[in-house]
Amino acid sequence: MHIAIIGTGYVGLVTGTCFAEFGVEVTCVDKDEGKITSLLEGKIPIYEPGLEELVKKNINDGRLRFTTDLKEGVKDALAVFIAVGTPPREDGSADLSHVLQVAEEISQCMDGYKVIVTKSTVPVGTGEEVRKVFSKHLPEDRFDIASNPEFLREGSAIEDFMRPDRIIIGAETEQARAILRDLYRPLYLIETPFVFTNIATAELIKYASNAFLATKITYINEMANLCEQIGGDVHVVAKAMGLDGRIGSKFLRAGPGYGGSCFPKDTLALLNISRKLGYPSKIVESVVEVNEAQKQRAYVKIKDILGGDVKGKVVALLGLAFKPNTDDFRESPAEVIVNGIREDGGTVRAFDPAAMEQARESLGEDGITYCENSYEAVTGADVMVIVTEWNQFRLLDLGKCKDLLKSPNLVDLRNVYEPDATRALGYTYTSIGRV
Ligand SMILES: NC(=O)c1ccc[n+]([C@@H]2O[C@H](COP(=O)([O-])OP(=O)(O)OC[C@H]3O[C@@H](n4cnc5c(N)ncnc54)[C@H](O)[C@@H]3O)[C@@H](O)[C@H]2O)c1
Repeated sequence: MHIAIIGTGYVGLVTGTCFAEFGVEVTCVDKDEGKITSLLEGKIPIYEPGLEELVKKNINDGRLRFTTDLKEGVKDALAVFIAVGTPPREDGSADLSHVLQVAEEISQCMDGYKVIVTKSTVPVGTGEEVRKVFSKHLPEDRFDIASNPEFLREGSAIEDFMRPDRIIIGAETEQARAILRDLYRPLYLIETPFVFTNIATAELIKYASNAFLATKITYINEMANLCEQIGGDVHVVAKAMGLDGRIGSKFLRAGPGYGGSCFPKDTLALLNISRKLGYPSKIVESVVEVNEAQKQRAYVKIKDILGGDVKGKVVALLGLAFKPNTDDFRESPAEVIVNGIREDGGTVRAFDPAAMEQARESLGEDGITYCENSYEAVTGADVMVIVTEWNQFRLLDLGKCKDLLKSPNLVDLRNVYEPDATRALGYTYTSIGRV
């Protein structure tokens, strides 16, 4: 089978590469010429563990191709996946212009029956919008529309794609369901659960899942804030809660608020959808509000440890990406922290193992020194802050850091160090929800 993936970002590149690994012939299309040129040279434009090897292998095996020419890409493809971005608009709703633009372009290049599959995260009703685009130009029997939302996590995207918890397929004809079932046969064989449903339900499942996970994170953050009031330990609270099979232990790690390219925009989009339907989700509304406050709270912890005055102080930030094992800086809590420090007259020394370039693009150079490693970052700083829990920050030589810092202050926004042991080394130590 030959398929095309339109949009070769985090989702499109992983999806295309993994389908090629399953034995499918894949053409990945992107309008970004620089990205496609890099890929054709075997260079991967994103940081994702294991991806580079898999891309190279499948290019060499002749199953994975890249092009900027959409017409050439979709030629002979039985399924065309739309995996372009759906960024938030000012009002929080998802911007569908890329999706609808791509739909329009594909509809002009139909050389036979195709199933058009939306993999981008899109509001309920988008499948219908895409159908209208195709209906303008083509009879109903020349195409089907389907929804196949993606749940991969950056940092473990390949494993998530190859061994997902479930596959969601929203489709309204037997032919579309059969093609998608066939495409995902390798996962069917390893007994991955498949949920077949209509398109609107599939679209809602993605938002419902992401908003629920964002709620879980936000909930434990609130419990952490309460722990700080009562002298409790959020690690123990989370562990004890997680032992209850009805709750589960995942997504119960307190921190500086969720970020990334999905949870912030998807919670806002769900809120927008629910408002338009006349049933605004009070839960999601609170989650968005509490999460924003949590990011600010993280900055206030830094300010507090500096005696309430950041002016003229140097803050070492270890980690900039919104989570470990990715170079994605979108909506990272680090952004709120850096802006707070700069507004209050302080400067930043920062290091991240993968996200330096992305951070630099977004934050610029003003008031920030980008460092080569953790020890360089903490040198001469008034406080060190663990912003992202990369493995390499879990076992830092804290004795050496103490010698390099101007003052032994540590703000641990990811709770990777033990409060008592860190204080015993002579640090003034703050965490999230552990006293
Ligand atoms: N990143 C994630 O972890 C993740 C996980 C699940 C779902 N999603 C969803 O998947 C979608 C894509 O996310 P992403 O992170 O891969 O985005 P991305 O920004 O990394 O990639 C999108 C790509 O689409 C390309 N593009 C835009 N318009 C195009 C056009 N007209 N023709 C060809 N290419 C075009 C862009 O150049 C870009 O390379 C979003 O809806 C997102 O919410 C993302």
